[in-house]
Amino acid sequence: MPDPVLTVIRQYIDLESRIGGYEAHAAMAGAFDDAYRAVAQLVGSSARNIAFTESATVSFAQAVSSVPFERGDIILTTRNDYNSNQIQFLSLRDRLGVAVVRAPDGDAGGVDVGVMEEMIRGLRPRLVSVTHVPTNSGLVQDVTSIGSVCREEGVLYLVDACQSVGQMPVDVAAIGCDFLSATSRKFLRGPRGSGFLFVSDRVLDLGLAPLFPDLRGAEWVEADRYELADSAIRFETWESYFALILGTAEAARYAMSIGLESIQQRVRLLADGLRERLARIDGVRLLDRGAELAAIVSCEPAGHDPAEVVAALRKRGINLSAQSRTAAVIDNADKGVTASLRLSPHYYNTEEEIEAAVDALRHCLSE
Ligand SMILES: Cc1ncc(COP(=O)(O)O)c(C=O)c1O
Repeated sequence: MPDPVLTVIRQYIDLESRIGGYEAHAAMAGAFDDAYRAVAQLVGSSARNIAFTESATVSFAQAVSSVPFERGDIILTTRNDYNSNQIQFLSLRDRLGVAVVRAPDGDAGGVDVGVMEEMIRGLRPRLVSVTHVPTNSGLVQDVTSIGSVCREEGVLYLVDACQSVGQMPVDVAAIGCDFLSATSRKFLRGPRGSGFLFVSDRVLDLGLAPLFPDLRGAEWVEADRYELADSAIRFETWESYFALILGTAEAARYAMSIGLESIQQRVRLLADGLRERLARIDGVRLLDRGAELAAIVSCEPAGHDPAEVVAALRKRGINLSAQSRTAAVIDNADKGVTASLRLSPHYYNTEEEIEAAVDALRHCLSE
């Protein structure tokens, strides 16, 4: 997290400890209003369309739980959607009898948008759900083209932007989504334990709400009746880690002050350079596929356990992660990998650091 993000969080916790939780919240009411505005600006929406949550996963679950599924409904997704999202869909399938259908990939990698469009028109799914950038590779899915078909067909559209928010411009109006779930802790450089959800006016006007709203999202007005909040707040819960909401907003402001276009250019330059260098190491197989690639670089180190490679590089101050097969069972099966390495350069990394990471990896693999 950048210093201004840390400062905001620390100051708020400090205030809570001095004057009390409710009192701090009341004293900082204006800062919380600004927090909705900052995150709204980040994704091109209005403050009333933003809900703060604990994570991208919670945002996603809240969104999915608001869809009035009936037995036989179809959830149309892709072969590269996030594992937790897939688990939630399969759980819904088992409980409600909905069908989970995955559009096929095209030759370049990533969903075949033409086929997906036909499937949206032909199958009339209850929900279309696409992960913008998957957890395990640099693929960028064409969420905008899919969004325009969903708009034409009036189909609900949920985008998981966990890995894209903070590393590239993300504009909900351009994408045409009904929901966009995101986390604070990844490329946005915000705190762990915090996320947000964009909810479209269409969804609000339809009266959709999470399956379990609480007294934050609704008011219990009579013994047998409650009224929903008229904004995306209906997707929030009453209790929350308020310091992290302010931290998330500060991270959004920080990213916007640098500029999302500049961030995108810089991270892609570093990621492309990293891929070029990795390709020259014997025994490294690059795994990223797609017409457009973002700043998640994935590769397989032949004959080495990725977890051991991660541990060895961490000792040298280089942070990367190992991805198990179950992070993306379909994509990994397609690529024939059981585990992989994930390197995610950010704009603050230098070319020298990229070089050092590649050298360290080469050294580790030659041992
Ligand atoms: C594509 C994608 N979606 C969602 C998530 C979940 O994010 P969180 O753990 O913050 O809920 C992740 C986390 O790695 C992810 O990569």
